[in-house]
Amino acid sequence: MLSEKRRDELIAAAIEARKGSYSPYSHYAVGAALFTENDELYSGSNIENAVYPLSLCAERVAAFKAISEGARQIQAIAVVTRDGGTPCGACRQVLSEFGLEAEVFIANDNGELIDSTTVSQLLPKSFGPSNLESD
Ligand code: THU
Repeated sequence: MLSEKRRDELIAAAIEARKGSYSPYSHYAVGAALFTENDELYSGSNIENAVYPLSLCAERVAAFKAISEGARQIQAIAVVTRDGGTPCGACRQVLSEFGLEAEVFIANDNGELIDSTTVSQLLPKSFGPSNLESD
């Protein structure tokens, strides 16, 4: 489990990342920050597009930044929105690939912790890499 200090560091990084949100259509800015298996910090914000379905959530931006830089595990992730919204289903699935037991901290833009959970709690009975292992 992450220490309180490290958790607060993640939430602060997600608040900072949220400032980079490009969300002119929904006006719903999201920031995410995560620690990899090597305690590296990556963050991201949601990026929308005039072709709405091409928009990408903050959690996936942060995760893909980390994975594309060589990380393979997510230890913990903080998500910040104006109202303490939780990760969408698509993000839960993507996060599960790299950290089914990762801690998930949901906070609002005042830095208040709304919920503390895990990816596996958010995505029970998930489909994952082990389903595709050959025998
Ligand atoms: N969004 C996220 O970035 N993360 C979530 O988990 C929920 C939704 C974004 C997508 C879109 O840009 C805006 O919030 C409204 O749905």
